[in-house]
Amino acid sequence: MRENLRLTGTHVGCDTSQCGACVVHLDGKAVKSCTTLAVMADGHEVKTIEGLAADGAPLHPMQEAFREHHGLQCGFCTPGMIMTAVDLVHRKGHELSDEVIREELEGNLCRCTGYQNIVASIAAGAKAMAKSDLA
Ligand code: FES
Ligand code: FES
Repeated sequence: MRENLRLTGTHVGCDTSQCGACVVHLDGKAVKSCTTLAVMADGHEVKTIEGLAADGAPLHPMQEAFREHHGLQCGFCTPGMIMTAVDLVHRKGHELSDEVIREELEGNLCRCTGYQNIVASIAAGAKAMAKSDLA
């Protein structure tokens, strides 16, 4: 995806399924792409962070929430965090407690933020997705 399609939002952190920087959606579900073989995606829909909102269109509500609530510093983990967060909302709904968000982020590592603003961003993004066509 990064080298052939130039979709460079998906990052390679650990390459061993630990950090979550590589999370994309496979048929709408969050997966770690570093340990998903291309053959496993054959015939399925793969969505990267670039696909969350159309070019030139407003950001997806979860992206906007990360921007508004300072949910990133260097940004390396951010695409994976956002793709994980969108999947979390699809599975657990729009009212997410800090406890649930923190538990669900166990597969996503951030070296910069201390997580507090990421958790706040996801809680706000989850609420905003309830009012958006891009949910
Ligand atoms: S690069 Fe895939 S989980 Fe770290
Ligand atoms: S914002 Fe830098 S690793 Fe998360």
